[in-house]
Amino acid sequence: MALCLCLASTAGLAQIGEDPRLAPLRELIQDPASKVRLEALRAVAKIPTGESAALALSALDRPMDPGLDYALWMTINDLSEPWIAALQSGAWKPEGHEKQLEFALKAIRPEQASRVLSQLLATKPLAKDGQGPWIELIGAAGSPKELRQVFDQVVSGGFDAPTSARALTALGEASRLRKVQPGGDLSSVTRLLTSDSEPIQVAALRLAGLWKQAAFVSSVAGVLSSPSLRPAVRDAALETLRQIGGPDSLKALQGLVASSNPSLRRAAVASLAQLDLGAALPSIVAVAQESSEETEALAFWRSVLGVKGSGKRIAEGLPKSGVPQPVARAGMRAAREGGRNDLDLVLALAQGSGLAGETGGAAGAEVIRDLAARAVSKGDPHRGESLYRRKDLACMSCHAIGGVGAKVGPDMTSIGASAPMDYLVESVLLPNAKIKEGYHSVVVTAKDGTEYTGTLARETPQELVLRLASGAEQSVAKADIEKREQGTLSIMPGGLLDPLNEQEQLDLFAFLSRLGKPGDFDAAQGGVARLWRIGQTVHTDAQAGQDVWPLTANWDDRRWSPAPALVKGVLTRDLINEITKASPWTARLGVYAATELVTSKDGKVRLNLKAAPGSELWVDGRKVGGNGASTASLKAGTHRIIVRMDPKQVPDELRLDSSDGAFVLN
Ligand code: HEC
Repeated sequence: MALCLCLASTAGLAQIGEDPRLAPLRELIQDPASKVRLEALRAVAKIPTGESAALALSALDRPMDPGLDYALWMTINDLSEPWIAALQSGAWKPEGHEKQLEFALKAIRPEQASRVLSQLLATKPLAKDGQGPWIELIGAAGSPKELRQVFDQVVSGGFDAPTSARALTALGEASRLRKVQPGGDLSSVTRLLTSDSEPIQVAALRLAGLWKQAAFVSSVAGVLSSPSLRPAVRDAALETLRQIGGPDSLKALQGLVASSNPSLRRAAVASLAQLDLGAALPSIVAVAQESSEETEALAFWRSVLGVKGSGKRIAEGLPKSGVPQPVARAGMRAAREGGRNDLDLVLALAQGSGLAGETGGAAGAEVIRDLAARAVSKGDPHRGESLYRRKDLACMSCHAIGGVGAKVGPDMTSIGASAPMDYLVESVLLPNAKIKEGYHSVVVTAKDGTEYTGTLARETPQELVLRLASGAEQSVAKADIEKREQGTLSIMPGGLLDPLNEQEQLDLFAFLSRLGKPGDFDAAQGGVARLWRIGQTVHTDAQAGQDVWPLTANWDDRRWSPAPALVKGVLTRDLINEITKASPWTARLGVYAATELVTSKDGKVRLNLKAAPGSELWVDGRKVGGNGASTASLKAGTHRIIVRMDPKQVPDELRLDSSDGAFVLN
């Protein structure tokens, strides 16, 4: 009490009302210059009142930067007790200030946050539809007591299905990033494993894996024995077994390796390898030999090679007779990509499979200069473009041109205009020779022995997010990291051009060297559709009453085949026909090319189609025109545009442009 009086008197005006020192800071905290805001934020920390905490938090209403973020974090830490008091007395109201509340709860000490959350929960139980930020806040800052409350509400059916899945995910994040779990017995999570809702099932499986109790294993194995097992549930359940580990999980996985279902078997071997490489080795070689397709094999190799030291040991176990070439190629690529260079495995795969010439023998400076000179004089960039698009070379799965493609590696749109030929040749043949700034790999070893390599996508105080060679993002909780190193190798694998003969290599280099220069290889100008999907209708569709299915099909309908445009922004007849190559005995009734346009305001949109006469242009299920210029009145949003063509009149080149919106590129 005495302290209070003393503070009041030092404030000058003995009356109630705010500290006069706050008035000038109130303006400075809104200052356009972020430096001024930062100083004001730190000055506020000297005045230990609820008002000053509220004032500091109001900085979040303006754009923040990392410096401001840190200053606010420190200030809220200094003012945590006055802020909590103001919240408890009702002087500071969380309603309408959810963002500020979230920031403050994450900034203060966990035991303080938990005090606040338990008070909020006591006055207001969580809504059935999980309205507001509470569930995630409890996940981010709650103690075992609040986590228990949320868990009980899920188990007793106190949330609707989407909210239950959300709550389970929040509980998972609490466990993954903060290592905090609900207090008490956790076994009721097994009841959720058989939920009808796939998102609940998957989230509950993840949770069971994070909570790691051997008692869960039999329920998880039960999920895997379901005859109608869906892939997302399968993958989550296998990951759960791997995380729980121990003799029971090992036994369950070994049982699954003998499954008669090939995709289950493949996935189980990958999980077993992560748990116990020695136990998995014989099956790894057997399963690798089974995959008939290169993409399937690549996914398998990638998951197995994530286990530290696996490359060398698999190499030793490979049969002398070799493995099928597509499997060997996929393995060689996985062994060299993503900052990994398992030379033992590369050599073993190559030797047994007749690919011995393809081990990317080190090209010297001489060879590179020579190839570069000949690429300039003898390379054909048009042929090179079709090589660049080839799936097995995988360039597009990591690089983008004109926005189309992936972003694991640098953008290629203007690489030819900015880099000399010998640099291009060296970059592709010897990716590890010089690694581009900003694309260095990071190698993270987790405490469970899993090794992740990728480029750093982002980092927070709690987690590290890597972008892997597959393009997927992988988050690793900092609490789980054993070791983190800067990688010395490129994410881009060497040996990608091994399947090409020398002329083809020259063609590919010629193509790269023309990118961004005026002409057929300039993708810099926008306004043209570059990402197409192609569909066709045949007689059996007509018999099934599906004669115009492409006009109404969903964007992710599996009957569509993706077809990126050439760099100059067109689809050629050859490209279209290659995709729609119907079997000789089925005649095509219609050929359809679909793309999407996003408009930012309501109004007239001009579309300019270059196709054959007789082509039709449909927008959002309505015919709006044909070859040439058309106009459509569209609301702001995403629109499906479809070009319908007579199979006998597929144009030499199909092109659609519009300057009234942005075409979707990925
Ligand atoms: C697994 C992903 C991946 C694949 C597949 C891939 N790249 Fe790369 N590429 C990268 C990364 C990452 C870099 C940057 C790091 C480095 O310099 O090695 C890169 C760098 C390059 C560079 C140098 C770019 C610059 O600005 O310095 C060129 C050229 C290149 N790649 C061409 C290709 C071609 C052609 C293919 C297909 C044959 C291909 N890449 C396949 C990931 C990939």
